[in-house]
Amino acid sequence: MKATAKAPSNIALIKFWGKANEKLNLPANSSISVNLSNLYSITTVEFDPKLKKDIVIIDGSKEQKETLRTTKHLDVIRKLAGIKTHAKIASNNNFPKGSGLASSASGFAALTLATTTATGLKLSEKELTTIARLGSGSASRSIPDGFVKWEKGTNHQSSYAHSLFPANYWKIAILAIIISTDQKKTGSTEGHSTAPSSPFFKTRIQNIENKVKEVETAIRKKNFERLGNAIEQEALELHSIALTSTPPIIYWLPESIRIMRLCQKLRENGTSVYFTFDAGPQPVLFCLQKDSQKIAKAIKSEVKRTRIIQSLPSVGAKLIKNHLF
Ligand code: PMV
Repeated sequence: MKATAKAPSNIALIKFWGKANEKLNLPANSSISVNLSNLYSITTVEFDPKLKKDIVIIDGSKEQKETLRTTKHLDVIRKLAGIKTHAKIASNNNFPKGSGLASSASGFAALTLATTTATGLKLSEKELTTIARLGSGSASRSIPDGFVKWEKGTNHQSSYAHSLFPANYWKIAILAIIISTDQKKTGSTEGHSTAPSSPFFKTRIQNIENKVKEVETAIRKKNFERLGNAIEQEALELHSIALTSTPPIIYWLPESIRIMRLCQKLRENGTSVYFTFDAGPQPVLFCLQKDSQKIAKAIKSEVKRTRIIQSLPSVGAKLIKNHLF
């Protein structure tokens, strides 16, 4: 009745921004991401008939908002398993949560795998991705390995994620630059619901399938420049939608813009490096492994007091034997 899972965070190359169905958490468009080897959550779940309610400890503390969201997700899985037992859940992130580095993706992916295993449910990877999706859309993409596509679908079963290419397909370096550890003011849930109010949202949705294909092709061909241009354009589009929504959302900090300009400058000088952002101020840079140290040095001299976490494409959520309690 006890299980522990480790799941990576993922960075979206084509973003999930806006929902087609809020209740089922169906996205307005399909998205693509890559799992990150050095940003992850580890979650242990134990069902215990003696418990009168769920106990949720995330990064060592009990927060009401997170407990509610976790309990809601447990209820979905309890219903599926036909049980009413409460559980103790402990989860640790190795990076600051709520700061735009997709802690909800790794968190809900690990929670889904650990909880379904602890209840004895035997689910396919596809089913796991649909359940993770109900907790947090992007969590569906942290279940399969490597480069992952989440098909938007039209109902619960058809909105699932699957691996496009395994983790070792392309060993590019991905640098998450933590420029601020403050919790962001506007969460992605609010962002998804205001996205359609942007006058540019309709155009985005009209063009998105071509962009999905472009990213898929760039990865298949291992064409780094092509991938880099596509992901930068996509990140700028996501933030253009956020900036022009009602009410507007400004995720960037001055340092975010400085890093974008630094990428352009490095490229002018012959270094291939491209940025993306999720719904937060932290830039995530893509580069070739041979250039990563030089780029990290340039970032540190441009913006003081940053923490850089370098990852490779990673496998998805896996069960592990080391329980947290
Ligand atoms: O899964 P959510 O609801 O936290 O939304 C994720 C939104 C973005 O990170 C901005 C984009 C994405 O596809 O991950």
